[in-house]
Amino acid sequence: MQILRKAERLEASDLKSYPDLIHKCYDVDALKKLDVLRKALVSMADSSPAAELCWLSLIGILRKTSCANTAQWQYILPRKTKKNPLDPFVAFRELSRQIAADMAFSQTGEPCKAKLFAGDARTCEGVPDDFAQLVLCSPPYPNNYDYADATRLEMSFMQEIRGWGDLQRTIREKLVRSCSQHVPEKAIDLEEILSRSEVEPISDELSEVCRELAEVRLTRGGKKTYHLMVACYFLDLAQVWNSLRRVCRSPSRVCFVIGDSAPYGVYVPVMKWLGELALAVGFKSFSFEQTRERNVKWKNRKHRVPLCEGRLWIEG
Ligand SMILES: C[S@@+](CC[C@H](N)C(=O)[O-])C[C@H]1O[C@@H](n2cnc3c(N)ncnc32)[C@H](O)[C@@H]1O
Repeated sequence: MQILRKAERLEASDLKSYPDLIHKCYDVDALKKLDVLRKALVSMADSSPAAELCWLSLIGILRKTSCANTAQWQYILPRKTKKNPLDPFVAFRELSRQIAADMAFSQTGEPCKAKLFAGDARTCEGVPDDFAQLVLCSPPYPNNYDYADATRLEMSFMQEIRGWGDLQRTIREKLVRSCSQHVPEKAIDLEEILSRSEVEPISDELSEVCRELAEVRLTRGGKKTYHLMVACYFLDLAQVWNSLRRVCRSPSRVCFVIGDSAPYGVYVPVMKWLGELALAVGFKSFSFEQTRERNVKWKNRKHRVPLCEGRLWIEG
């Protein structure tokens, strides 16, 4: 509440320093309030856990207070508007209270022993060898969802990027390649990727699918580079398995929440290939537990390949 009181007394700075996207997403009054909240936070930041949580609250209200709409999941659509965005001061108070209430609810009396490592799953840098007995993971699917673009509003508000192009430099290189925007044609040598030793256990089937996709795309308007996306995705995930083998004890269990995919209608057997890549680095067995079907209602679908989603269990 100290932050709110301080924000209410502050003058907003020159709003021109915010990128264009931010001006499309907020009216002047809302942006002034967000700006003073941010200034209050900067002036009171002391690296304490409470200060970090206040930053989380500010980031957490950016979508609720924007007059722009969000698409399925978290893309931002500045041209579509929503009717009643929340007032930033009200939203900040509500979210801070909710976070505090959730923390109070989940206190068990034991001090929390969780450690957070922010890093790339392909290297698991910072995680010691033989550290884990159980890994629960929700990795990207090779389904063209753009996780870099999903951060655009927040990164723009924090002035860490000016526009879409900056995402490439700041975010994409840290991400598993699961969308076509991530793999422009000129940047990737398909044959080189397919010849890498990490994907050797699946290389025959992977090459066949990628070559089919390379042909199909020429018949489609968007000419999306799914052939490169699929090759790079499995190379990246092979590296994740390699790192997981290092950080997991023997025996251990890994659970991936994962789904298969069919870009341009070409089926990609994601669970089978991930299982085979895991065995190749030394895990002992894999099984798939389906939790739901996807793409089984034919209306408005881009293709008619039935898909599913569930838990891939790896043991060993
Ligand atoms: C399916 S989402 C799951 C997100 C989160 N676990 C949840 O349930 O909301 C996949 C996540 O993996 C992250 N990701 C992509 N590449 C990564 C990498 N190389 N290392 C670690 N995480 C990555 C994406 O940014 C995205 O947040």
